[in-house]
Amino acid sequence: MFYTFLLALVVSFGALAQGASEQAEVAQKGVEPGSTEGASVDGGADPAVIDAGAALFKNNCAVCHSAGSDVIVGPGLKGVTGRRSESWLISWIKNSQALIQSGDAEAVAVYNEYNKQAMPSFAFSDDEVRSILAYIDSEANTAAAVPTTVGGVEGAAPGQNVGTDAIGAVGGYLDIILVVLIVVLIVLVVTLLLITSLLKNYLNKNRQLDEYDAEVVNQRFDFSKIYKSKAVRTLVVLIFVVVLLDLTIDKVMGVGIQQGYQPKQPIAFSHKLHAGEHQINCNYCHTTVYESKSASIPSANICMNCHSQIQTQSPEIQKIYRAIERNEPIEWVRIHNLPDLAYFNHSQHTQVGGVECQTCHGPIQEMDVVYQYSPLTMGWCIDCHRETPLNTEGNQYYDNLVQLHEASSKGAFTVSSNGGTECSKCHY
Ligand code: HEC
Ligand code: HEC
Ligand code: HEC
Ligand code: HEC
Ligand code: HEC
Ligand code: HEC
Repeated sequence: MFYTFLLALVVSFGALAQGASEQAEVAQKGVEPGSTEGASVDGGADPAVIDAGAALFKNNCAVCHSAGSDVIVGPGLKGVTGRRSESWLISWIKNSQALIQSGDAEAVAVYNEYNKQAMPSFAFSDDEVRSILAYIDSEANTAAAVPTTVGGVEGAAPGQNVGTDAIGAVGGYLDIILVVLIVVLIVLVVTLLLITSLLKNYLNKNRQLDEYDAEVVNQRFDFSKIYKSKAVRTLVVLIFVVVLLDLTIDKVMGVGIQQGYQPKQPIAFSHKLHAGEHQINCNYCHTTVYESKSASIPSANICMNCHSQIQTQSPEIQKIYRAIERNEPIEWVRIHNLPDLAYFNHSQHTQVGGVECQTCHGPIQEMDVVYQYSPLTMGWCIDCHRETPLNTEGNQYYDNLVQLHEASSKGAFTVSSNGGTECSKCHY
C-alpha cells in the first residue's frame, strides 16, 4: 500500500519533470539564435523594417559578411552606411560587377582589396536593400548598447534566457525532492525495523505466548520459502511472458518504421555546418517548406550561390560542379518517406500551425548527417493532434467552433477538436 503510494508519487514527479523539460524546449525555441529582438535599441528606424532586413541579411549575406567588423569572405559591414552613399550601396548590392565595370573608383578599389572575388548579384528592390542597411545600422547601435551576448544565445537580448534559467532551477529543485524522498524512505524502513524488534522484545518478555504465536513472532526470514512458493513462481513466469510478448509486438509493429534511418549521402553536406554554425535559414534551401505540401530538396544551383565562391577547391564541392557540368541532379538519398496512402502537408504545419521544424525533425542544425528523428507513424501524427492546441486567436473562422467546443468539453481546442483525427483528413 505504502509502496504503491510512493511509486505513484515518484511517477507523478517524473511526469512533472518531463513537462518542465518540454517547457524548457519551448522556452529555448522562443529565442532563436541570432534573433534580432534586441535590435530595437536603435536610432529610430521602424522595428518591422529592421526585422525584414535582418531576415534578408541572414539568408543572403551572413555567410560572407558579419554585421560587425569581422571579415568573413567579404568585409565586415559595420559603418558601411557611413563610408558609402546609399545610392552607391544600392547599385553595389544589386549588381556589384556592373558597378565595377562602369569604372566606379570605390567599387574597383574594394574589389581589388578583396582579391577580385565577385560578390553575387541580388534582385532586391531599393526598399529591401534599405531594410538590410537599417538592420546593419541597428546592429552597430545594439553592439554599442549591449556589449556582450548572453549565455551563448547569440544576439538574444539580456533577460531572454530567464526561461531556461528558471527551468534549470526547477530541474535542480526536482533532484532535491527526489533525494529527500529517498532519505525519508530509508528513515521509514529503519524506524519500522526498530519498531518490530522492540515489539518482538516486548512480546517475548512480557507476554505468555502460545506455541503458534511464538513461532510467528520469532520467525526468521527464509529465502527458500519464497523460492518454493507457488504464487511467486507463477508471478515470475507471468512477468517473463508479458515482457516477451511486449518485445515481439514491438518488433512486429516496427515493420516499415524507419526511425533513426541515416543513409550515407553522395556529398558530405553538413546541416551542422550550414544551418548550425553559419545559421543559413532552412527555407533558403528548402524553398517551398512554408508554401506547399513538399519541403523540396535544393538543386545544385542553390549550392552554387555560395560555392561558386566558397571552398571551390574542396573535392566535395567539386562534386557539385561535376553534377552541373553533366546537367545531372545530385542524387541525395531520401530519408523521410510516408507511404502513398497518407497525406502530409508542410505548409499546413510550418506556416499555418507554426510548428517548428525541430519538433518533427529533431535538432537538424546539430546533425552532420541527417537521420529520421521521429517514427512517422499514424500514432505519432494523432498523438500530436490530440495534444496541440490550435491557434484560433484573431481568426473569426474559429469563433463559433470554439464556443461550441467550450460548451461541450473542458479541454483546450486542439487540432483534433477541429477534426484533425478524422481518417479522411490524412487518407486519400
Ligand atoms: C559569396 C559571398 C558574398 C555574399 C553572399 C555577399 N557578399 Fe557582399 N561582398 C563580398 C565580397 C568578397 C566583397 C568585397 C568586394 C569584392 O571582392 O567584390 C563584398 C563587398 C560588399 C560591400 C562593400 C563593402 C565596402 O566596404 O564597401 C557591401 C556593402 C556588401 N558586400 C553588401 C552585401 C550585402 C548586403 C549582401 C547580402 C544581400 C552581400 N554583400 C552578400 C562577398 C559577398
Ligand atoms: C544549405 C542548404 C540547406 C539548409 C540551410 C538546410 N538544409 Fe536540409 N537539406 C539540404 C540538403 C542538400 C539535403 C539532402 C541531403 C541530406 O539529407 O543531408 C537536406 C535534407 C534535409 C532533410 C531530410 C530530407 C529527407 O531526405 O527526408 C531534412 C528533414 C532537412 N533537410 C531539414 C532541414 C532543416 C530543419 C533545416 C534548418 C534548420 C535545414 N534542413 C537547412 C540542404 C539544406
Ligand atoms: C548560403 C551559402 C551556402 C550555401 C547555399 C551552401 N553552402 Fe556549403 N558551405 C558554406 C559555407 C560558409 C561553408 C564553410 C566553408 C568553410 O568552412 O571554409 C560551406 C561548406 C560546405 C562543405 C564543406 C567543404 C569542405 O570541404 O570543407 C560542403 C561539402 C558543402 N558546403 C556543400 C554544400 C552543398 C551540397 C550545398 C547545396 C545543397 C551547399 N553547400 C550550399 C555556405 C553555403
Ligand atoms: C508536423 C511535423 C513536421 C514539421 C513541423 C516539419 N516537417 Fe518536414 N517532414 C515531415 C514528414 C512527415 C515528412 C515526410 C513527408 C512525406 O514523405 O511525404 C517530412 C519531410 C521533409 C523533407 C523531405 C522532402 C519532402 O518534402 O518530403 C524535408 C527536406 C523536410 N521535411 C524539411 C522540413 C523543414 C525545413 C521544416 C521546417 C520549416 C519541416 N520539415 C517541418 C514532418 C514535418
Ligand atoms: C508536432 C505536432 C504535429 C505532428 C507530429 C503532426 N501534426 Fe498535423 N497538425 C498539427 C497542427 C498544429 C495542425 C493545425 C494547423 C492549423 O490548421 O492551424 C495540424 C493539422 C493537420 C492537418 C489538417 C487538419 C485539419 O483539420 O484541417 C492534417 C491533414 C495533418 N495535420 C496531417 C498530419 C499527418 C499525416 C501527420 C503525421 C505524418 C501529422 N499531421 C503530424 C500538428 C502536428
Ligand atoms: C493525423 C493523420 C491520420 C489520421 C487522422 C488517420 N491516419 Fe491512418 N495513417 C496515417 C499515417 C501517417 C499512416 C502511415 C503510417 C505508417 O506507415 O506507419 C497511416 C496508416 C494507416 C493504415 C495502414 C497501416 C499500415 O500498417 O500500413 C490504415 C489502415 C489507416 N491508417 C487507417 C486509418 C483510419 C481507419 C483512420 C480513422 C479512424 C485513420 N487512419 C486516421 C495518418 C493518419
